[in-house]
Amino acid sequence: MAFEQLGRKVVLGIASNKAVTNVVTKHGMRMGAKRFIAGESLEQAVEMVKQLNKEGLLVTLDHVGESVSTKDEAIQATDEAIRIFEMIEQHQLQSNVSVKLTQLGLSIDHDFCYQNMDRIVAAAKERNNFVRIDIEDSPVVDITIDIFKRVLAKYGKEHVGLVVQSYLYRTEKDVEGLGKLGASLRIVKGAYKEPKEVAFPLKRDVDANYNKIVALHLKNGHYTAVATHDEKIIQETKRFVKENNISNDQFEFQMLYGVRNGLQRELVKEGYKVRVYTPYGKHWYPYFSRRIAERPANGLFILKSLFKS
Ligand code: FDA
Repeated sequence: MAFEQLGRKVVLGIASNKAVTNVVTKHGMRMGAKRFIAGESLEQAVEMVKQLNKEGLLVTLDHVGESVSTKDEAIQATDEAIRIFEMIEQHQLQSNVSVKLTQLGLSIDHDFCYQNMDRIVAAAKERNNFVRIDIEDSPVVDITIDIFKRVLAKYGKEHVGLVVQSYLYRTEKDVEGLGKLGASLRIVKGAYKEPKEVAFPLKRDVDANYNKIVALHLKNGHYTAVATHDEKIIQETKRFVKENNISNDQFEFQMLYGVRNGLQRELVKEGYKVRVYTPYGKHWYPYFSRRIAERPANGLFILKSLFKS
């Protein structure tokens, strides 16, 4: 197994430990999680979005939280996503919204989840905005694609898009199929712990597949969000669009709030569209632990603070 995959498994394993969750959730914001989280409330996040917009950065707002276990929680998450669209309009922010289906009740009842997603896309359309469905771990990929296709057929690609992961073997085929529907796709490498039966274990294969999928979707003429902090992939995308005369309106770069801030701003200066995925909310811990797993150095300051206190 590649070293980086082993590291991610270990970190995600520790992160799911209950005691670790409790300590970090209690002290994490103070200890530095706010580097990656724009605040615990939407109102705090709005102020951060204003700053980012001033610097020419577009935003996608994400109310963090995943896998709810009651219908009430799923309805609350749905209402909150709709409230984000209202705030975007009220404050005239350059932002859209990202959601996760497990937050909208996917593990409770598929049709109930679809109804919630339908309400969110309806709100996006009403305000001429856009919502992107994040992709989660491999067992829910099929159902996520199904629900996406239903809302896409009803509301159109201007109002709803999906994410795909280059670490999954299946993704190239998925992208071909979704391309036939004209879908707007965000391409990511993938952030979950996946077995080698479904995902490339080696980084070099994940990266090669990433470039392949981006090229495929762009070449087929579809809107592509290249969501990575990997400079080699960003360079390759720049080269590919130039060589194939693909306009800057057909793609955007996306990065996470607090990651590679300098690079985000450099790309804006070069004239590219750049969108910052900006999470906020009280339940930030699972999101935060995936950021640590991607780069364990991000977690060192947490450990240091724990030992100091
Ligand atoms: P890679 O991990 O190879 O990193 C390349 C370089 O970027 C590193 O060497 C480092 O310099 C820097 N870097 C990367 N991550 C960092 C971090 N956390 N802190 C500091 N530096 C870091 N995943 C998923 O499964 N479903 C989803 O819906 C999404 N959505 C999403 C949206 C957006 C806008 C982004 C940018 C990413 C996601 N992801 C995601 C996460 C994605 O799958 C992946 O885990 C991370 O983007 C890290 O991979 P990179 O592409 O950056 O490359």
